[in-house]
Amino acid sequence: MIEFKNITKSYDKKTLILKNINFKIKTGEFIILIGESGCGKTTTMKLINRLIDPTDGVILIDGEDVSKINPITLRRRIGYVIQKEGLMPHMTIGENIELVPKLLKWDKKKRKDRAYELLNILNLNPDIYYEKFPHELSGGQKQRVGIARALATNPDIILMDEPFSALDPITRESIQDEILKLQKELGKTIIFVTHDMDEAIKLGEKIAFLKDGEILQFGTPDEILKKPASEYIEQFIGKDRIWKTPKKLLVSDIMSKHYWTIEKRSNISRAFNLLKTHDIDFLIVTESEGAKYSEPLGIIFRKNLIHAMENNILRVRDVMDTDFLTIDKDSHLLDALNKMSSISAKVIPVIDDKKNLTGVITNLGLVSAINKIAPNSDFSDKGGGL
Ligand SMILES: Nc1ncnc2c1ncn2[C@@H]1O[C@H](COP(=O)(O)OP(=O)(O)OP(=O)(O)O)[C@@H](O)[C@H]1O
Ligand SMILES: [Mg+2]
Repeated sequence: MIEFKNITKSYDKKTLILKNINFKIKTGEFIILIGESGCGKTTTMKLINRLIDPTDGVILIDGEDVSKINPITLRRRIGYVIQKEGLMPHMTIGENIELVPKLLKWDKKKRKDRAYELLNILNLNPDIYYEKFPHELSGGQKQRVGIARALATNPDIILMDEPFSALDPITRESIQDEILKLQKELGKTIIFVTHDMDEAIKLGEKIAFLKDGEILQFGTPDEILKKPASEYIEQFIGKDRIWKTPKKLLVSDIMSKHYWTIEKRSNISRAFNLLKTHDIDFLIVTESEGAKYSEPLGIIFRKNLIHAMENNILRVRDVMDTDFLTIDKDSHLLDALNKMSSISAKVIPVIDDKKNLTGVITNLGLVSAINKIAPNSDFSDKGGGL
């Protein structure tokens, strides 16, 4: 665990570059620092491995105050990938990766074995690349070597300052995938700086959003997308981004809270009146009407009322549709689509973890959600009839 406690930083005693930063990073977490240029991302990062020291406050790593740890010892535990890959141009790839192990006086074989292992992990054939020089590598390959070098002494923590910003989108995607895989396999704590919201959402388990040396919000990508803490963040991430990442859309994001319930013992005439008064198409039948916590027992549509009248049925419970599906509020939008099409339902009651009614998904609601996600798809502009 890395903990920032009331951290401030100023270089000239006048301007505060960081203002009272507080946050915790759990072991094995992938944390993103994001924010516009000059907001203090690099400064925050450099405090962790003591490339700079705070003006005030403490940083704890596993409970230990970093200001009490010898910077050299500390940096052995913390890998650092700087923005430009920063390889030594006159050294081979092997020598670059073995730089710190050599300083630590690892013997030659151990160093070389480790360099070979890391090159393999990062998809660079060591038989080809070990002896090459940085200028013989592409940007993406150099970046991989930069990561290999940061991993050389097997640190628990890795700091990465905009490591992929100079790469083309395709190389970037593939290195992002590799780093995610690496983190899963090796369980490293990664602190990663980026300007790019897409990258932040893809990689981060949590995102710290910085502005003018303060953390505006610290939360999961989901939380930041769905509940941006300020208008500034909303603008930064783009107002409609949630609709551009449909994989993150849950039933609870698109369900409607506008529905009426009716007690199962109610009279048919009451159901009829409710539908008419509110100009609605269905009622959800529950044990007691309007109850805050109750399980959906059935659905009443107009056709059920017609059936009741034709057959002299008096009670809602004797005529309601009981052949319906419910869906969990935390399921994925796609599950709702699947359910809806599997039974060609018009309404699916949404339930919470206690099986209580908490919303409804209607087929119209789903279509409008899909229209937002894919405004140019075939789903849109159907049935306008103008
Ligand atoms: N050594 C220094 N002396 C004085 N001011 C500094 C120093 N280093 C950084 N700053 C200032 O601190 C602020 C934060 O800088 P920092 O490098 O942390 O920003 P950043 O968020 O990493 O920006 P970028 O996205 O451009 O890399 C900036 O206003 C910068 O000018
Ligand atoms: Mg920076």
